[in-house]
Amino acid sequence: METVGILGGTGPAGRGVAVRLASAGYDVVLGSRDAQRASDVASAIPSTGAGTVSGVSNEDAATRDLVVVATPFESTIATLTALRAQLKGKIVISMVNALAREGRELVPLYPPRGSMAAQIAFALPESLVVGAFHHLPASMMEDLASGLDADVLIFSDHHDARARVGEIINEMPGLRSIVAGSMSLASAIEAFTAVCISVNIRHKAHSYVKLAGLDE
Ligand SMILES: NC(=O)c1ccc[n+]([C@@H]2O[C@H](COP(=O)([O-])OP(=O)(O)OC[C@H]3O[C@@H](n4cnc5c(N)ncnc54)[C@H](OP(=O)(O)O)[C@@H]3O)[C@@H](O)[C@H]2O)c1
Repeated sequence: METVGILGGTGPAGRGVAVRLASAGYDVVLGSRDAQRASDVASAIPSTGAGTVSGVSNEDAATRDLVVVATPFESTIATLTALRAQLKGKIVISMVNALAREGRELVPLYPPRGSMAAQIAFALPESLVVGAFHHLPASMMEDLASGLDADVLIFSDHHDARARVGEIINEMPGLRSIVAGSMSLASAIEAFTAVCISVNIRHKAHSYVKLAGLDE
């Protein structure tokens, strides 16, 4: 079983993924620009009795077997470029969305390569970049009693890495992985997050994606 590092893991998105990975038995480290802050945040996460959650620096988190990127989009590429050596040859999961708030809506932004996942793949040419977790409401992810029963669309040009990420997601309570396809779908999947959040704002809800019509 891999150990997992989460860059920017002190935010709601990283914490939510950490809780459900730990619940599945994975040992997880929350990375931060400030290791003490990460340690404090990790200490406040209730133990699930299976895997562990602890806090370290982003540099340390990037040395783990598999790494999740949970930083704001504006700082993602600078953060990853500094960690390129540690991330070489590893699966790097991007859950990063580039979005802007306009009134009651979120609208998608399009980085030069069309998506944040593609920007990350360009910045980390020797890593195996997989996209996942984009549409999940962090508050429900962090609360194991929230009743979350969501689908996670995953995409990558690295088929073995994508398959491994899918297996891991299927072990996480409340989640089912669905292979959407290649990196070509990244911009559509990331942009759809703007729809999800706008619906949640308008309807004062924490809805999530669940596709019908697929075999279990
Ligand atoms: N929130 C959700 O429901 C959700 C769901 C799916 C995907 N996402 C995506 O996941 C990512 C993180 O979301 P979030 O809501 O957790 O974001 P966030 O709270 O704004 O940021 C996450 C962490 O990133 C670090 N960070 C902040 N500014 C930084 C900078 N300039 N340079 C380096 N690190 C910085 C901070 O950790 P330290 O201060 O400890 O370093 C912060 O705790 C985003 O790209 C978002 O689109 C979010």
